[in-house]
Amino acid sequence: MAIRKIREMGDPVLTKRCKEVTEITPRIQALIDDMFETLYEAEGVGLAAPQVGILKRIVVIDVTGEDPMLLINPKIMETSGEQEGYEGCLSVPGKSGKVTRPNYIKVLAYDENMNSFELEGTELLARAICHEMDHLDGHLYVEKVEGPLVNTADLMEEEEEE
Ligand code: NI
Repeated sequence: MAIRKIREMGDPVLTKRCKEVTEITPRIQALIDDMFETLYEAEGVGLAAPQVGILKRIVVIDVTGEDPMLLINPKIMETSGEQEGYEGCLSVPGKSGKVTRPNYIKVLAYDENMNSFELEGTELLARAICHEMDHLDGHLYVEKVEGPLVNTADLMEEEEEE
């Protein structure tokens, strides 16, 4: 396994639509392993393949640090509700912005054996799934931000003061 370089906003690879995965080759398996390692090293909640420069529909998410999830070719089946909150992105380091997302999501995706499964998520998991799936279509959360981008460090300070 290896840590891969995380591409940052301004890199054209983050604006492209990703292609579906058709089979799990050794290269794809290595990519998945590296994406998890890169996610944990960066202490992120989610990472999409284009963020490491690969235009494939692969997402890794772990909202607790102990619950790794792999979504290959994810498709949204259902959403409901709304949540407003700050989110950040490993490709936009140090910044956060307020984004409204569904509070519930159900997706159909494939696992590392290309078996399909359904995943339901609420709150942070729903937010993370939506955020990462946007990456697969070349979109960053900054396009959806309400109000200014803020420094994540300032945001954490504010929370501490409250
Ligand atoms: Ni992101």
